[in-house]
Amino acid sequence: MKKRIRKAIFPVAGLGTRFLPATKSIPKEMLTVVDRPIVQHVVDEAYEAGIEHCIFVTGRNKSVIEDHFDIAYELEDVLEKRGKLKELQALRADLPKAGAMSFTRQQAPLGLGHAVWCAREIVGDEPFAVVLPDMLTLAAAGRRCLAQCIEAYEKHGGNIIAVEEVAPEETHKYGVVSVGKDYGATFEITGMVEKPKGVAPSNLIISGRYVLSPEIFPILEKGEKGAGGEIQLTDAMKALMGEQAFHGVRFDGKTYDCGSSLGFLIANVAFALANPGLANDFRAQLKNLGVL
Ligand code: G1P
Repeated sequence: MKKRIRKAIFPVAGLGTRFLPATKSIPKEMLTVVDRPIVQHVVDEAYEAGIEHCIFVTGRNKSVIEDHFDIAYELEDVLEKRGKLKELQALRADLPKAGAMSFTRQQAPLGLGHAVWCAREIVGDEPFAVVLPDMLTLAAAGRRCLAQCIEAYEKHGGNIIAVEEVAPEETHKYGVVSVGKDYGATFEITGMVEKPKGVAPSNLIISGRYVLSPEIFPILEKGEKGAGGEIQLTDAMKALMGEQAFHGVRFDGKTYDCGSSLGFLIANVAFALANPGLANDFRAQLKNLGVL
């Protein structure tokens, strides 16, 4: 029987230089998309997929992420006294179960592969998920991207990577996979390359949701550097492909790359239009602006 995916790693150590000065004193993961911090959106997605333990790989100046997921007694007290029960309830609904979150530090910015490796002791010897908070997802219908990856893991076992189609001129910014046996929603991955310089093997990019087996850790441990002089998760996965199966999931929905200001703005628009409490008013305001 396949082991259940209980833990997810969230690499949140990046400096967010593309968002300065907004990220001078707050982590980029705390920027809000509509009404929730980015990091809360990805944790929501993880819980929806059945994740029980969230592991954050943080860095200096990121402690506010830990505070965000802690109880805020004074605030709760004030809300209660003022009768703001709806707000109080909403805060309590987002509070993780005690002990169900861990925080560890990536001490130097050595790359995504290194960040994932930093969580090895907390993950232990079981398959796990990786969720990149830069990438926010909205499902076309049903559950979001990580849940779809876990479904694919239950079907195929091994390792799973979510992919998204992009324009060929965008592929150089991402990891790109090669497609083998194709089942439609899922397919066998026969190769992958990080930030391809020449012609990319396909226009399917690695979109920031993974299910990986713990055998990735000894490979990451070697600390071999790849694209950009960093320890790349893609290179370690490529090495693991020699021993274990990898399948891609064509996510039935859309991924929003919040790694740039334009992507971040588009994510805000998309999430606002997907928010039942806001969509109609927001659409009307966009019309007033002459956008629609
Ligand atoms: C990372 C991964 C890359 C993936 C991308 C998605 O790159 O290395 O394979 O396509 O995330 O955002 P980064 O954005 O850290 O350069």
